[in-house]
Amino acid sequence: MRKKVSIVGAGNVGATAAHWIASKELADVVLVDVVEGVPQGKALDMLEAMPIAKQDVSIIGANDYAATANSDVVVITAGIPRKPGMSRDDLLKTNYNIMSSVVKEVVKYSPNCIIIVVSNPLDAMAQTAFRQAGFPRERVIGMAGVLDSARYRTFIAQELNVSVENVTAFVLGGHGDTMVPLPRYSTCAGIPITELIAPERIEQLSQRARDGGIEIVNFLKTGSAYYAPSAAAVEMVEAILKDKKKILPCAAYLQGEYGIDGYYVGVPCKLGAAGLEQIIEIKLTESEDAALKKSAASVKELCAVIGV
Ligand code: NAI
Ligand code: 2OP
Repeated sequence: MRKKVSIVGAGNVGATAAHWIASKELADVVLVDVVEGVPQGKALDMLEAMPIAKQDVSIIGANDYAATANSDVVVITAGIPRKPGMSRDDLLKTNYNIMSSVVKEVVKYSPNCIIIVVSNPLDAMAQTAFRQAGFPRERVIGMAGVLDSARYRTFIAQELNVSVENVTAFVLGGHGDTMVPLPRYSTCAGIPITELIAPERIEQLSQRARDGGIEIVNFLKTGSAYYAPSAAAVEMVEAILKDKKKILPCAAYLQGEYGIDGYYVGVPCKLGAAGLEQIIEIKLTESEDAALKKSAASVKELCAVIGV
């Protein structure tokens, strides 16, 4: 039987995620949105591309959640995106209300699904989804680190003039200005970038990764990034559907790991059929550890505002 992925929010990130999933023939897709006609229209348009793309998947759009029943994975992108001058945190209260109502419906129709949260502010929205769903932490995971690391990898590959395939990188912490790029664990063909790039240049690349979201917002003016974010969410979906046991930086609910308890923070995670299968604890230097704790503290502040 084919796998089923529902995507809530048929906007830029949601619809593009549906497109990546269909083009990789990963699963049947259901797109849900509050706006009447939009998920239906986008889904039908994508479906009509399948004979050309030579992929056999069903893609349907809906305004109610009955169509999402028994999904294997549900990706939540519903919410408002950033405009110039807005931080991710400005979205907090609006997206909290949206997330709470969406998760209630998702859980009703797909009690065994794995939820991937994309809506911002990411870590606080993942925490909202986790509290509202009542699922174990293995089945509620946030997407941010894959995106932030992909941006970092792009900039490192450009700097070294090498294939992006040669570059691995880790960005941990919350998805915000306090995120923590880890140059010591970022490599080019297995060589730590600290051996290849001068420290002050590495800091510039790290800062560009931290500012990666706003760099795109400032270009687009009417919204935020969606090609790389949707590709990042779909990498997580694929790891789960194919039980790949893939280690990716994801927002996970920490219960003492890294000395953090009771919050979603980006850490290296192993993803497989059960969802979050393991949190990998890597050794951090004193300053890396302090940066991660500072990032966790900013997640905690946001969670306190919405009481999750
Ligand atoms: P968008 O505005 O293009 O799409 C959002 C969609 O959500 C709209 O179609 C809207 O109608 C829908 N929506 C709103 N309330 C809803 C509800 N109650 N039920 C169902 N659908 C609802 O925005 P975009 O660019 O797709 O971004 C979506 C979210 O993802 C934003 O919060 C954005 O900040 C976040 N984001 C997070 C990233 C990450 O790294 N975690 C990266 C990029 C975006
Ligand atoms: C991004 O990083 C806005 O969180 C979104 O592009």
